[in-house]
Amino acid sequence: MNDGFVLIYLFTLQPDFLYKMQVIKEIKELRSILDEKRGKGLRIGFVPTMGALHAGHLSLVTEAGNQSDVVVVSIFVNPTQFNDKADLERYPRTLEADVLLLKQTPCELVFVPEVDEIYPEPDTRNFNFGSLEQVMEGQFRPGHFNGVAQVVSRLFDIVKPDKAFFGMKDFQQVAIIKAMVKMLGIPVEIVPCPIVRENDGLAMSSRNMLLDPQQRANAPHIAATLFEAVTKAGQLSVEELKKWVVDRVNENPYLNTEYFEIVDDETLQPVSSWEQRGAKVGCIAVHCGKIRLIDNVVFNR
Ligand code: PAJ
Repeated sequence: MNDGFVLIYLFTLQPDFLYKMQVIKEIKELRSILDEKRGKGLRIGFVPTMGALHAGHLSLVTEAGNQSDVVVVSIFVNPTQFNDKADLERYPRTLEADVLLLKQTPCELVFVPEVDEIYPEPDTRNFNFGSLEQVMEGQFRPGHFNGVAQVVSRLFDIVKPDKAFFGMKDFQQVAIIKAMVKMLGIPVEIVPCPIVRENDGLAMSSRNMLLDPQQRANAPHIAATLFEAVTKAGQLSVEELKKWVVDRVNENPYLNTEYFEIVDDETLQPVSSWEQRGAKVGCIAVHCGKIRLIDNVVFNR
């Protein structure tokens, strides 16, 4: 074979060939691989996930690839952040498909630990995020952010990333992680990434695959209402707009709003007037049958 043929042959082998990816279950092994890479001066980018990957997750992996030399993705359904046992049991687990998807990204190392590997002993740490966790997800899912902080602090300790990538889809989670990193003095840069949506506007979520066809057809009404709310912000007061959103979402027989809150994008405290300083974000949680969906939108006011 001459060189030209060899080159063409090698390209037909992608993406497996182009991105050699390792799937690792043990902390010890991951640590030793990463120590070696760090020793060579390579910068580590990290994307923690609970799997059932979709284009939203993959956008974080792509961004991690743009901003770092080695990309690590973890897939771990963290039991301590589920305050509802049924939600934990029905959470989708699609490891094989996830690995195939990640092979087509810049991900080099996939960390897929068992529960015992992450929690050899029960994690009894109690984080106090003050007012950040007393609203929205923190209020309606007690203990949720404590579990998120437990697992993410543990994963950061294992991976020791230079940068970690989180989706704005979980807007409050980003604020909690930033606060945790500050509180514990972890030397990592938190990089927030934009929400990725389906063509019909529905924010991508692993839980979307649990919706039945009729629920799936009605779920985009949530995002449509948020987008319409942005255009109404000039005409209605904050209170009026909050009521309008809840009523409008609930008009749809498949949807039942748990909360809709308009908050300051840094303090996460509810705002009472558009005149207040700072960017404002409208955050919503909606029950669609047994499935709970969240979404948010920025008000440029
Ligand atoms: P998970 O829900 O799997 O999400 C992993 C990451 O993907 C999070 O940072 C989340 O915000 C981001 N993400 C999910 N849907 C997205 C979308 N449509 N657009 C952009 N980003 C999106 O969030 C968790 O897992 C867990 O709480 C975790 C941080 C892994 C801790 O267990």
